Amino acid sequence: MRWRSALVTGASSGIGAALALELGALGCDPVLVGRNRERLAAVARRSGGRALVADLADPDAVRRVAEVAADTDLLINNAGAGCAGPLPEMPEARVAELVALNLTAPLQLTRAALPGLVARGGQVGFVSSIAATGVRGEAVYSATKAGLRAFAASVAHEGVPVTTVFPGLVATRFFDRRGAPERRFPRPVPPERVARVLVRALEEGTAEVFVPSWLGLAARAQGALPATFHRLAHRFG
Ligand SMILES: NC(=O)c1ccc[n+]([C@@H]2O[C@H](COP(=O)([O-])OP(=O)(O)OC[C@H]3O[C@@H](n4cnc5c(N)ncnc54)[C@H](OP(=O)(O)O)[C@@H]3O)[C@@H](O)[C@H]2O)c1
Repeated sequence: MRWRSALVTGASSGIGAALALELGALGCDPVLVGRNRERLAAVARRSGGRALVADLADPDAVRRVAEVAADTDLLINNAGAGCAGPLPEMPEARVAELVALNLTAPLQLTRAALPGLVARGGQVGFVSSIAATGVRGEAVYSATKAGLRAFAASVAHEGVPVTTVFPGLVATRFFDRRGAPERRFPRPVPPERVARVLVRALEEGTAEVFVPSWLGLAARAQGALPATFHRLAHRFG
């Protein structure tokens, strides 16, 4: 469909900002959600969109954003954060924060948006991660991203086309912010590439896309040969 409106979470930087610019170029004046007012305003100026400042780890703020999501033609759940390291060393509050931001917020926003999307023939997009296959040292992050994958597949039975993108390594501030070095593999891709692939997949009604595309093989290998996959993942990270 030709989207007249869109809401993109995590639009103040990285993949979300690239999505906002891509959608702005298509003429659909996106609503841009994030916490950093200045960065959001800068992306809003460039994309023709409008900034909506909200902390998506806060349920009250999610409710405010949900009211806006109820009127959109396209909802893209992109905002997210990572955390790497041994699970026992992860503070209890950080576990809750990651689940709230990466998983609960997309669930609630999609729940609120769904009736309007179904009525208007709208669509939902999710930014998951190849970590949804279960990667070493990122147990909670992987769980949230795998949860998104299952949620997306289920929502697709409720009357809206749903597209999920699974990036590998993307050249954004994500790794600086999570406070741990980048995964060593695969080679980083620019956020603009992830945004382009997701928007094209939404236009074509594709359910799942991987960036780079060969990562789809890794996901299939995990499904078909989980023990072998996880032995290799443990060895190579
Ligand atoms: N970079 C990678 O290698 C990679 C790989 C696979 C998947 N991903 C996924 O891609 C998505 C986008 O990440 P990115 O790589 O573009 O990193 P990024 O540049 O750090 O972008 C993260 C976005 O999420 C927003 N955000 C973070 N915490 C938030 C909160 N509590 N409330 C509202 N917004 C919040 C940030 O905005 P504010 O700071 O303004 O709040 C920012 O706009 C994430 O879901 C991430 O898991 C990234």
